[in-house]
Amino acid sequence: MSQPFDAPGYNRDSTIVNPKGQGEMRAGPQHGKAKPAPGGPFLIGDKMTGGYGKNGPDILTDCTIAVDSGEIAVIVGPNGAGKSTGMKALFGMLYLRAGSVRLDGEDITDLTPQARVAKGMGFVPQNNNIFTSMTVEENLEMGAFIRRDDITETMEQVYDLFPILKEKRNQPAGELSGGQRQQVAVGRALMTRPKVLMLDEPTAGVSPIVMDELFDRIIEVARTGLPVLMVEQNARQALEIADKGFVLVQGQNAHTGTGKELLANPEVRQSFLGG
Ligand SMILES: Nc1ncnc2c1ncn2[C@@H]1O[C@H](COP(=O)(O)OP(=O)(O)OP(=O)(O)O)[C@@H](O)[C@H]1O
Ligand SMILES: [Mg+2]
Repeated sequence: MSQPFDAPGYNRDSTIVNPKGQGEMRAGPQHGKAKPAPGGPFLIGDKMTGGYGKNGPDILTDCTIAVDSGEIAVIVGPNGAGKSTGMKALFGMLYLRAGSVRLDGEDITDLTPQARVAKGMGFVPQNNNIFTSMTVEENLEMGAFIRRDDITETMEQVYDLFPILKEKRNQPAGELSGGQRQQVAVGRALMTRPKVLMLDEPTAGVSPIVMDELFDRIIEVARTGLPVLMVEQNARQALEIADKGFVLVQGQNAHTGTGKELLANPEVRQSFLGG
């Protein structure tokens, strides 16, 4: 990956996010201010068990996913492992039979997704994550729907982060390339000034070069102090930029560790990273 933090458009202003305090930026494996929230991770789905609908089979079993302040956490695992389901559970789209979800120490297990957005969760789902018939700028405006204050500064920050979006601001989002659409989706989520950003396969369907670019932008966002939790199919590349990694198999935690630990783990390498 090229020098992500010196790239043009790198947003040194942390007002795009709504962090709990302004830490100084520093290089190293941890992104942004790396203070763990008191009383545990900033966002945690703790021992979650549940599925779709009250009577559906359990998709997640005793599954824990979390992200600390100032960190990038990555969820990897085979297709159908329950990665998206885990994200949806954190966002309140699933009925949990057991376990809990806590945000900044507060139990939010019973909150609706809308209430979670108001609490500071920004979620980019795996599919249908933009309004294709609306312009790029309208998509960003929609993202800010819960805000009553002036959004122009945040929009400028999103355009600084993703300059191509400024160029295409008046074009229908459906006319954009796959990588550009993902930028719209991430930008839309940033418009609420979230306290945590959740991305489900932000690099799905894009070329390796565009993937690197998107990862660079995600690292930039994380370095403003915004914790990022993402699902990734590109397991090796994702674990390289991850502070924490969660390998899920059949709705359960198969391996958990730092990105480095998982990359070095022979079993993880053999089963999930192609040796
Ligand atoms: N809306 C739904 N209703 C019922 N079952 C679902 C629904 N969405 C997913 N599932 C089931 O939940 C299981 C896990 O799916 P999920 O989408 O979470 O996997 P994933 O790890 O995100 O896979 P992928 O890598 O393909 O995105 C699968 O067996 C799937 O069939
Ligand atoms: Mg998925």
